[in-house]
Amino acid sequence: MLVVAMASQKGGSGKTTLAGHLAVEAEKSGAGPVALIDTDPQGSLSHWWNARAVRSPQFAQAGVFDLASVLNHLRRLGIKLAIVDTPPAISESIAEVISRSDLVLVPTRPSPHDLRAVGATVDIAERFERPLIFIVNAATARARITGEAVVALSQHGTVAPVTIHHRVDFAASMVDGRTVGEVSPKSASAKEVSDLWLYVQDRLARLKKSETLASEARPQDISAHMEDEDFAEPLPPPVLHPAPKPYEGVDRRKEGRDRRDIPQDEVLFGGQERRTNRFGRRQADYFK
Ligand SMILES: Nc1ncnc2c1ncn2[C@@H]1O[C@H](COP(=O)(O)OP(=O)(O)OP(=O)(O)O)[C@@H](O)[C@H]1O
Ligand SMILES: [Mg+2]
Repeated sequence: MLVVAMASQKGGSGKTTLAGHLAVEAEKSGAGPVALIDTDPQGSLSHWWNARAVRSPQFAQAGVFDLASVLNHLRRLGIKLAIVDTPPAISESIAEVISRSDLVLVPTRPSPHDLRAVGATVDIAERFERPLIFIVNAATARARITGEAVVALSQHGTVAPVTIHHRVDFAASMVDGRTVGEVSPKSASAKEVSDLWLYVQDRLARLKKSETLASEARPQDISAHMEDEDFAEPLPPPVLHPAPKPYEGVDRRKEGRDRRDIPQDEVLFGGQERRTNRFGRRQADYFK
């Protein structure tokens, strides 16, 4: 049985939404039987599952102390894939889930707050040597910050090539225990979820060198998303800068330089230096 953890310190990044959607998609694609495990005391995933008319994927609630026995039980039941939803925290329970996972998925909204929060999750995955994939979730189409987020995240690890966009059908479909694919299978949201699952499935198959999970379908249509303006222009490689020296030049305010005249790449994210922001990781960690 393969175990996938949905983890992110930041609340509301999409862990529960994507856990439910990926589990349903995995079951549909034949990678099941799939089980969802809710380790979040908020119980959002269990509320969603209880509202479902169908009983697949299967569901289990687990706490930090019984996770291992729940996983063993599911293994004995013949479950092939377990997707574990976690609370928005950095705690021993998250470390416990990550330590028992084959892959960690980190949904991240393309906002500076979310980006700053990824460091702590990355640290735990590194501590247990677990592979991690960022998923950009709730992106606004054609927003430049989405591309910026991909560049920033790629400094910390792999970013899924499928972006999940912000659409009300993700929230609306979950009200009565369904997914976007179950409500409108032909929607753009449903297509994104199935492309995302194809990608995750492929990564799992490679990680485990398991042919059983390798899908016949390949995510050939993933490139369709890259035609979005977010991905249309090749993104510039991230520029690493040394620590900034004290400013010795001319005071621009005295010069009267208009901010609107400053080239774009100087003003994005508040300036070049901040592109190398390590999002919550202590600077000292980088010089060990
Ligand atoms: N792609 C999306 N488009 C629109 N709404 C979304 C999207 N992804 C998530 N949401 C909405 O954002 C809210 C938070 O999502 P979700 O509950 O999945 O996040 P979470 O990471 O599990 O939050 P928490 O950390 O509190 O458990 C929900 O109302 C959900 O419906
Ligand atoms: Mg949640």
